[in-house]
Parts: sequence; C-alpha cells; structure tokens
Amino acid sequence: MEESASAQIEFRKVTKMYGSVAAVTDFSLAVGRGEFLTILGPSGSGKTTALMMLAGFEAPTKGDILISGMSVAAVPSYGRDQGIVFQNYALFPHLTVRRNLEFPLEMRGVKASERVALVERMLKRVHLGAFGERMPSQLSGGQQQRVALARALIADPPVLLLDEPLGALDRNLREQMQGEIKSLHREFGKTTICVTHDQEEALTLSDRIVVMRGGQIEQLDTPEALYGRPANRFVANFLGEANILDDPELGYHKKDRPGTVPMIRPERVRIAAGNAVQPADQDQRQIVSGIVEEMIYAGPLRKYQVRVGRTSLIVREHVASGQEIFKPGDTVRLDWFRADVRSLSE
Ligand SMILES: Nc1ncnc2c1ncn2[C@@H]1O[C@H](COP(=O)(O)OP(=O)(O)OP(=O)(O)O)[C@@H](O)[C@H]1O
Ligand SMILES: [Mg+2]
Repeated sequence: MEESASAQIEFRKVTKMYGSVAAVTDFSLAVGRGEFLTILGPSGSGKTTALMMLAGFEAPTKGDILISGMSVAAVPSYGRDQGIVFQNYALFPHLTVRRNLEFPLEMRGVKASERVALVERMLKRVHLGAFGERMPSQLSGGQQQRVALARALIADPPVLLLDEPLGALDRNLREQMQGEIKSLHREFGKTTICVTHDQEEALTLSDRIVVMRGGQIEQLDTPEALYGRPANRFVANFLGEANILDDPELGYHKKDRPGTVPMIRPERVRIAAGNAVQPADQDQRQIVSGIVEEMIYAGPLRKYQVRVGRTSLIVREHVASGQEIFKPGDTVRLDWFRADVRSLSE
C-alpha cells in the first residue's frame, strides 16, 4: 500500500526505439503524488518521447509504466485520466473558449447544468471570465495558453502533463504564466510532469528536476541540489554557467582527483581591483590575478569575463551602489572560497 501511496507515476526501465534510434533508454523514475516534476534537457534528448509514452500516445519498446501502482501498458490514452497541454495539442479552433472547456466534461458525461458552472468557475480562475464566447484565434498567445491549462484541469484529472507549455511566449508573458502554473499547482495539487528545455523555467516551477541527455537520465534532484551540486560537467553547464578550473594557474591539478574536474559558479567568484588589500580570510580562499576581457551589463547583474592563464573565468555580481566597475584591460584580483568549489565527474 505504502508504495502506491508515495509513487503516483513510475517508469520502470523504459526504452523507446524508433527503428534503430533509441529515443529513450533505460529510463526509471518515480513521481510522488502532488509532486511537480520537470524533465529538462537539450533538443532531441527524449523529453517528449518520455511524456508521450506516459500519455499513451506511444508505447514503450521495453519496460513498463505504472500509474497509481498499476501497469498502463494496456490502457489507451483516453483511459488514463490525464490533463494534457502539449505544444502541438492546440485548442479546437472551431469551438469557442467556453465550448473548448466543456469538451472534456462532455467526454466524461458531466450534466449540462454542472458543466456551465464548472466552466464559469474555471474561466474566472484563469482570468478569462469575459472571454468565454471568443474563438481561439481571437485570443493572444498567453490567453490561449491559459485556456489550454484550464481545459487540462477542468475535469479534475489526478495527473497533469505539460510539454513546453510556454514555448511560444515572450519572456514577460512566460514569467507571468510560470507564476500562473505555480499557483494552479499550489491550489489544485495535481501531480504534474512538465517538459522544458528552459532551465530557468525548470528551476522556478519544480519540486524536482530530471536532467536528460541522449535519452538517458543524467541527474534527478531538487532545483537547489542540481544547481548547487551538479553531478557532472554536462549538468553543471546545462543548468546555469560554470567555471571549470582544471588549470594549475587556478590552483588545481588533474592528478589531485582523477576523473573529476573542479567547478565554481560565477556568482561565487569575487572581483576586486588588482591592488586591493588581501581579504582577512585569505587562508580559506583561492586568490588569482587576471585581466578583464569583457564586461556585460545586464540589468541587475554585471558579468565579467576575466582571463587567468589559459582560462577565461566568468564572474557575476549583483549591481550595487559604490561598486568599483572594471573595464576590458584592467588587472583584477579574483577570489573564491575553496569550500565553494564542486568536484564534477567528467
Ligand atoms: N516518430 C519518430 N520517429 C523517429 N525518431 C523519432 C520520432 N520521434 C522522436 N524521434 C527521435 O527521438 C529522439 C528524441 O526525440 P524527442 O522528441 O523525445 O526529443 P525532445 O527532448 O522532446 O526534443 P525537443 O526539445 O526538440 O522537443 C530524437 O533523436 C528524435 O529525432
Ligand atoms: Mg520535445
């Protein structure tokens, strides 16, 4: 009993072959009830394939998928009781917003009077109370996405599947919709699996993130653990920026820990004038001297590229008043806590 209570969805050693191409290989994953899990990875890494198998649009070549502890190998997609927002699974263009939302309810035999009330409530919930009679083509991209989310949620499925739900939106709208998805998740508590190649989106929304590459899982962890303690070079680079320190000039030697490379995140590196006084806690810090190659100003952040030996290090600092600003050609001193350096497998 306990097992099925904790894992609502389970992939067991699932492989999907398209001819000789392995889209997903030996994929195992358990998703808890009410959890928001994101599958993150570059294009072609198998994210959509994994979700399509869960939705029942594709069948695994090997392995099994369980929902609430039961194999769904024999259950067709319409029998799986999942709300779906896929990028290519658009609204019905010939139906009004209201009729789009009514559709899943009709499919489940909900009475007409009840349907009206449910649609009304859901339209209000996604801030589209006045848009019920519009056709999808008369809505903005963000409004269409909200209708799609509303349609996925309205029949109260226990599981919500989202494939790049915000892919087509501009940055501001994306952020707004991320907030919307988060608050819907908080409110309805659906087990949600979201596919994205946008790392910021994954970090913002998820309880846990699966990082995929080439059809396989590279790492599965909470956003903070993934960012703070990436397992390998690929994950470190895919989630944010990473300074790889495998250069004797940076104080690290390959032979120290074979098969691994040291890494420090750009926001953990401090920048100061070349002739600044040494920090009081210098025994805990690595201190190097470099030349600024580039300074990029990005709103609240300033990003430097600093040449140290054969390595170009990225330094990111929050813009604050009274800060010294360096320009290309300046000699600077960089330092970081040795304890902040992570050891990655190659
Ligand atoms: N129907 C298909 N027939 C053959 N190969 C396929 C098919 N669908 C996907 N693939 C291949 O499987 C691999 C994984 O594809 P998938 O669509 O799962 O990637 P993805 O991670 O969702 O990528 P994206 O971020 O671009 O959407 C790719 O190499 C792709 O070319
Ligand atoms: Mg995809």
